[in-house]
Amino acid sequence: MNRDKLAVLGGSPVFKTPVRLAWPPTDKVTEDALVELYRSRNWSWNGPWEQKFSRDFSRLHTARHTWFMANGTVTLEAALHVLGVGPGDEVIVPSLTWLATAMAVLYVGAKPVFVDIEPGTLCLDVKKTAAAITSRTKAIIPVHLYGGMADMDRVLALARKHGLKVIEDCAHAHGGMWNGKGLGSLGDIGSFSFQQSKTVACGEGGCVTTNDDELAERLFRFKHIGYDLSARQGKAAAGPPPGLICHNYRGTEFQAAVLHGQLAGLRALTERRNCNADFLTRELARIPGVKVQARGRRATRHRQSYYCFMTILDFHHWAGATKSQVIRALQAEGLPADGSYGTVWRHPLWNVPKSRYRIHSGQVSDDVGTARCVGFHHWYLDLPQRDLGKFAAAFAKVQRHAHELAKMV
Ligand SMILES: Cc1ncc(COP(=O)(O)O)c(C=O)c1O
Repeated sequence: MNRDKLAVLGGSPVFKTPVRLAWPPTDKVTEDALVELYRSRNWSWNGPWEQKFSRDFSRLHTARHTWFMANGTVTLEAALHVLGVGPGDEVIVPSLTWLATAMAVLYVGAKPVFVDIEPGTLCLDVKKTAAAITSRTKAIIPVHLYGGMADMDRVLALARKHGLKVIEDCAHAHGGMWNGKGLGSLGDIGSFSFQQSKTVACGEGGCVTTNDDELAERLFRFKHIGYDLSARQGKAAAGPPPGLICHNYRGTEFQAAVLHGQLAGLRALTERRNCNADFLTRELARIPGVKVQARGRRATRHRQSYYCFMTILDFHHWAGATKSQVIRALQAEGLPADGSYGTVWRHPLWNVPKSRYRIHSGQVSDDVGTARCVGFHHWYLDLPQRDLGKFAAAFAKVQRHAHELAKMV
């Protein structure tokens, strides 16, 4: 068989068996801990696993407090709620992100204002953010998206100048560092997701991080229907601060135990993926029309976390082939490529009346984020070196044959 013929057109694929790596990870120690936990009948209420998880997660992210919750959508809602964001307020969110970032703003009765992303990092454009601020703006939610970090120095400087709160959406950023500080510890509150596909995962779950003791208390009480940290079940010594209407957004000990098992290896995992991403970035740089999502502005004392390894294609070099043709061709070569989230308000699940949100800018989100991104889930950065070479070879093969792809229906 012609080895150079595209697999999607009947040739032999670069990967004889498609790359399928298992995620989330499992291990025997956690499995045994789960059985023991089940037998203990102590399944909830800030138990020993939740406490161990909170302590270790805080340490990894240089935060004073971490509280575990049900998912990474309610964590954003909790953050906005305890910061006092509500009806009549505006909150700036990036135009390219998962819907949850903007939905959380709606849940507290405020208005999401969509601001464009930078074409390189795919994260919030700070210059455009400055232009979108009005007298109603209360907070900014930068998202550390896929394999990029929002420019936290500039976001924080802008927020300070205008007296705005900052909530970092770190759903993609476990274990990441900005200038020696853990992502999620730079703004007022950080928000993480542990949903099945995330870098640290327990099926469904999330957490908030903060360095502010008062906010920490409000956050804990909010997710715990008003109880404070020391309360035993059903024994409320004192109520929450005036005006704080609370919720039950607790997670369970089972989730906390699964997560705790993943924390010890997080730093090594992140560093290994950074090395492999560097290798792939160098290899892909040889292919015309392929760029890799840029990391944060200053490389020193940063540690990138990856939810996706995202490439940005320049279609001037693809002989008329479309993004979906490229994705199909890569998949046929054995590489599980996919697109990006796309611009929030164009998503089929964005079922929100126009009066409830404001679009400041989103051209780059449409033109780059939606139209040109082809990405791979983070676990593909665990491929052995030999397979990473084949990863780049598959990309190069598809690009070389772009003119044939363009004719494909
Ligand atoms: C950027 C971003 N923010 C928030 C969330 C919400 O997290 P969850 O699915 O745990 O509710 C996600 C989930 O994918 C996300 O990608």
